[in-house]
Amino acid sequence: SNNVYIAPSILSANFAKLGDEVADVERGGADWLHVDVMDGHFVPNLTFGPLVLQAIAPQTNLPLDVHLMIEKPEEYVPAFAQTGAHLITVHAEACVHLHRVLHLIKEQGVKAGVAINPATPASAVREVLEDVDLVLVMTVNPGFGGQAFIPATLRKIRQLKAWKEELGLSHLRIEVDGGIAAATAPLVVEAGADVLVAGNAVFGQADRQAAMAEIRESLAG
Ligand code: DX5
Ligand code: ZN
Repeated sequence: SNNVYIAPSILSANFAKLGDEVADVERGGADWLHVDVMDGHFVPNLTFGPLVLQAIAPQTNLPLDVHLMIEKPEEYVPAFAQTGAHLITVHAEACVHLHRVLHLIKEQGVKAGVAINPATPASAVREVLEDVDLVLVMTVNPGFGGQAFIPATLRKIRQLKAWKEELGLSHLRIEVDGGIAAATAPLVVEAGADVLVAGNAVFGQADRQAAMAEIRESLAG
């Protein structure tokens, strides 16, 4: 379906030529660019900060979908907003005052998303669904690219889709992240996901356009 977006994750790109990698997926038909920010505390890995976002932003027309896997995300929201984020997603597990952080994001003129890890129930975001533009269901435990999709997350996607319809939140996007490829995309889309993050499945292939086409074709049948 054309209503399903593909958001390649630059976590799996070649960082030594990041500008070319971004241009390649933009030419290849990406809808958004997914930017994984890790702090070595919330997740056991480190990536990059606002300076890298600032370097990418002028090189692309793709909306920058910034996924903060960091503690105290509120301390960095203004920096990511000012360096070109279109959407900033924070983890429910990382925010004591989740509602406050989501509104801080929107005050910066950026769309707001909320993410949940595989062990976190959908109910953790139920009270803020009306405050966000996107819910991100992690389909792996965050920290690394190339991990296997966790099928138990499908039930959670279905629950969120049901709440979205019940509340009439037609603008709300349901994003999935981790282990998404042509084999798993139809499952998550059937359950209600409409933004597919894909790291390894796109950047792990030499032909990124073909890799994204393969994911889209998996949804056609
Ligand atoms: C995982 C990151 C993902 C990651 C997905 O911690 O949030 O965005 O890049 O990679 P794949 O698609 O390879 O599972
Ligand atoms: Zn991510």
